[in-house]
Amino acid sequence: DWNAEHIIDELIADVQAQVGDGKVLLAISGGVDSSTLGLLLARAVGEQLTAVFIDHGLLRLGEREQVEAALRPLGVNLITVDARAEFMGALDGVSDPEQKRKIIGREFIRAFEREARGLGHFDFLAQGTLYPDVIESAGGEGAANIKSHHNVGGLPDDLNFKLVEPFRTLFKDEVREIARLLGLPEHIRMRHPFPGPGLAIRCLGAITEEKMDILRRVDDIFISGLREFGLYDGCSQALAILTPIQSVGVMGDERTYSYTAALRAVTTDDFMTAEWARLPYEFLATMSNRIVNQVHEINRVVYDITGKPPATIEWE
Ligand code: XMP
Repeated sequence: DWNAEHIIDELIADVQAQVGDGKVLLAISGGVDSSTLGLLLARAVGEQLTAVFIDHGLLRLGEREQVEAALRPLGVNLITVDARAEFMGALDGVSDPEQKRKIIGREFIRAFEREARGLGHFDFLAQGTLYPDVIESAGGEGAANIKSHHNVGGLPDDLNFKLVEPFRTLFKDEVREIARLLGLPEHIRMRHPFPGPGLAIRCLGAITEEKMDILRRVDDIFISGLREFGLYDGCSQALAILTPIQSVGVMGDERTYSYTAALRAVTTDDFMTAEWARLPYEFLATMSNRIVNQVHEINRVVYDITGKPPATIEWE
């Protein structure tokens, strides 16, 4: 008999016992785990917590503002760091997907470390590690690998943090339940997973400011549309991809030569295998119209009808 309110009290007591009057640092990704952890820690240790959100410029439209608006009113001492220029600079001209991931992981650690040092001394580093992560990192190469940049374990030893991981025994559903009781807004609480490298791995090939801007607008139309049509919760993950394909189209009396955007939505239990979501044609038609009308750099929209395997969920 799992009682979330009771668990919250226990977790808070455990954190207080571990941390004492020490200072705690937390990296917020904007996902449900780290956001919920921020809320829990704010309750447990208040101002002893500093939460840091790195804006790497690979986020969705309005994401940083959403995280700020969700956490600050609930007492989380949240600092947002604008590291967009560093990330864009480091990724300049890089088209290989694994290379992109490596660079983003490295830059993330750098930005976080710099911020941590600037903020003074911290005794603890909090992480939203869940029970399945604990199991995975014991074995399974693929999954652990995928999440490698997510934990900030690559930090230099002299920072000398002790780890605080209150969610180590919990599953995602349990964290979501805790999030509900702590007042995390639904759009974050029930959000699809979003990869650490963000939109960079959905903008195929070398990224540019201009391409990221196009992708952000397409993604926003698609994700908002799914929510508007009540289809969001029925998908496990949905994404927009900006392809490097340019093709001929016609807009009014004019010939266009613009990019192709791909939409993908999947259903899955574990993200190891997935089916493409059978979204209604009418919905897809509406999305296609909105995208080509509102995003002038796009003149063609395709829907990905491939399962995993043989395809992966992301295109890079
Ligand atoms: P794939 O594309 O391998 O994705 O079918 C499976 C799940 O993992 C996510 N994913 C990532 N998550 N960093 C992450 O944090 C990554 O580099 C990464 N690559 C894929 C993907 O979004 C999906 O949920």
